[in-house]
Amino acid sequence: MSDSIIFTVQPGGSLNGEIRVPGDKSISHRSIILGSIAEGTTHVTGFLEAEDALATLKAFRAMGVEIEGPDDGKVTIYGVGLKGLKAPEGPLYLGNSGTSMRLLSGLLAGQSFNSDLTGDDSLSKRPMRRVTLPLAQMSAQIQTEEDGTAPLSITGTSELTGIHYDMPIASAQVKSCLLLAGLYAEGETTITEPAPTRDHTERMLQGCGYPIERKGNQVSITSGHRLQAVNIDVPSDISSAAFFLVGASIATNSSVRLNHVGINETRTGIIDILKLMGADITLTNEREVGGEWVADIHVKSSQLKGIVIPEQLVPLAIDEFPVLFVAAACAEGVTVLTGAEELRVKESDRIQVMADGLQQLQVNAEATPDGMIIRGGDIEGGEVISHGDHRIAMAFAIAGLRSKAPIVIRDCENVNTSFPQFLSLASELGLNIAQNKP
Ligand code: S3P
Repeated sequence: MSDSIIFTVQPGGSLNGEIRVPGDKSISHRSIILGSIAEGTTHVTGFLEAEDALATLKAFRAMGVEIEGPDDGKVTIYGVGLKGLKAPEGPLYLGNSGTSMRLLSGLLAGQSFNSDLTGDDSLSKRPMRRVTLPLAQMSAQIQTEEDGTAPLSITGTSELTGIHYDMPIASAQVKSCLLLAGLYAEGETTITEPAPTRDHTERMLQGCGYPIERKGNQVSITSGHRLQAVNIDVPSDISSAAFFLVGASIATNSSVRLNHVGINETRTGIIDILKLMGADITLTNEREVGGEWVADIHVKSSQLKGIVIPEQLVPLAIDEFPVLFVAAACAEGVTVLTGAEELRVKESDRIQVMADGLQQLQVNAEATPDGMIIRGGDIEGGEVISHGDHRIAMAFAIAGLRSKAPIVIRDCENVNTSFPQFLSLASELGLNIAQNKP
């Protein structure tokens, strides 16, 4: 932590202007994965040039896929087809990226070669049994550490068999992992989800002409078909836009327009929750781009009020809770989140780390096993630690818009995993933030 980046945010100010935040992280990962195993050349635009998506890109290069770029968000992938990947020479290092590890474990289980997946300290602590257990039911051979964490050692097999899996948790990573394994499994693989989760994998598979069946909360895939390369226009990431949706809502005299943001309905929980809290958010220019919906989003200052967050919105806003907790701290009254225990196994324990940081800033925040209770009020200045979690770092930076004294945020290096331009775009809109190495 000591040699990491520190953000210092001066209190107050407004956010104003019009920006386009970088490309969607989930869709960027999937563009590389599906582009690599498609037949033909995939041209990607709007690709997220951040560490997580680049980890996926490098992994496929290491498996023999020729990939040009990224260059100003443009990537060209020369697909090798479903059977064209080659054994990597060493372990595939996936940094901080849970999406890379979980999706790749499914894809690699059915290859004709073995592979090892490794990650940084945070990723090496995250639960992988959620993918290795159902994959084992499909006859995959994957070794983990004793406690079910990475490194993963995968013995490729041609003997995968389709299963019907009722997911115990609402996870798009698990669903996507099993769909990718299903491309190589004998027979049909069906996944049932307990609540809707992001469906970018399904949309992109269909976009590549691969037949899948979607019925209610169930999705099925059968091996034996091919993926055709298509061009992919990655929308801006609503999870990055979220910082400014909250920022412009809580700051005075603010008005921000966020252009070309992905508004896939499995991702818009942040908008629904903020609107329930009284936020002034309007969507214009809604259009479909390559199978995903996008819009320009306009947000203005408003007095937010505390709410009980409906549990069905939790998976649809799962990455946005760090900054939503900041919104709750600025709201009138009490905000209650339940049903969000998944937050404890993200890049950090986002319930504990956010509660600790908010308390450090004298906010009345109480962690609960599956959520948080926050009583809105004043935010004081102080020093907080992001615990290497990109979204925690950016959430506390946004808190500066309403704090009474500077906020110092330690350990901000990993903002580069999802949103390297955060500092410059936030400054452009009016956040008084500086970065320094200690
Ligand atoms: C993601 C799914 C979510 C999300 C993560 C990205 C994806 O994880 O938190 O940032 O791209 O599929 P879970 O599937 O673990 O909920």
